Amino acid sequence: AMDQENMVRQELGSLHGIPLFKSFIEGWPQVKAFQARPDDLLISTYPKSGTTWLSEIMDMIYHDGDVEKCRRDAIYNRVPFLELKVPQCPSGVEQLENTPSPRLVKTHLPVQLLPTSFWEKDCKIIYVARNPKDVVISYYYFHQMAKIHPDPGTQAEFLENFMAGKVAYGSWYDHVRGWWEKKQEKKILYLFYEDMKKDPRQEVRKILQFLGKELAEGTVERILHHTSFQEMKKNPAANYETILSTMMDHSLSPFLRKGISGDWKNHFTVAQNERFDQHYQQHMAGSDLHFQMEV
Ligand code: A3P
Repeated sequence: AMDQENMVRQELGSLHGIPLFKSFIEGWPQVKAFQARPDDLLISTYPKSGTTWLSEIMDMIYHDGDVEKCRRDAIYNRVPFLELKVPQCPSGVEQLENTPSPRLVKTHLPVQLLPTSFWEKDCKIIYVARNPKDVVISYYYFHQMAKIHPDPGTQAEFLENFMAGKVAYGSWYDHVRGWWEKKQEKKILYLFYEDMKKDPRQEVRKILQFLGKELAEGTVERILHHTSFQEMKKNPAANYETILSTMMDHSLSPFLRKGISGDWKNHFTVAQNERFDQHYQQHMAGSDLHFQMEV
């Protein structure tokens, strides 16, 4: 068994071909056997795509815009992380077993690894995708502050690893495309971070329609205010500042870092951008899934 100290900066293992934290792989049998409930709602994303943002929006919707109720606990406890498994902490599965229904569940699993009971119980799923240039920059900063990840190296090295799918949760391309294709047959609302930035009200409306729920205009207004980047950044229940400092060091980079679309322009060189565009064309060929690289 590992303790929290030697879990830090470990190299990744492989779960059915997907690079993943070794401690998560140790907990995989429990995740695979997870019993979803029909009224579970799954929030699924590739890392750094707006998971926490959507989670806060969903908890607010589930509590009819009651800001105080949404301060009852940290976001990582209000919306447990299904495959989370680190030493000396309750696993995501354990947390979920102790959560009353209706539950909100977070996962970053690629579609082919989702525990089958989510499909069997026909659970509602909301997926958020974000353009890969912003994802890779956000993921790079996240590697620096969240010590569960291997050392990311230089930005150029990290970009190579990301393009090759050699980061936790594997290829961004496979992830976004896999979930996109599943949408043909299953109850999946597929959202984009860039749309949420452009018109959050419209995306909240889409979510409400998907849930078959109606809220007063004033409640929607309160949800939009409470889940804005500025409000979430200063909210200890949303900004991860309460997590163990052995896990995350916010002095290296805050969890809510910039919250914009197009920050990649401040990081990519012209040559990196050209290479990335070419790689992107190859890996997205034949798909009707399209991304806005800025808004
Ligand atoms: P940046 O690093 O680009 O700032 P996840 O929750 O999936 O880990 O994603 C984290 C990213 O979402 C971070 O991106 C974070 O700042 C951004 N984010 C979190 N809350 C947000 C909000 N309310 N509005 C916009 N972006 C938000």
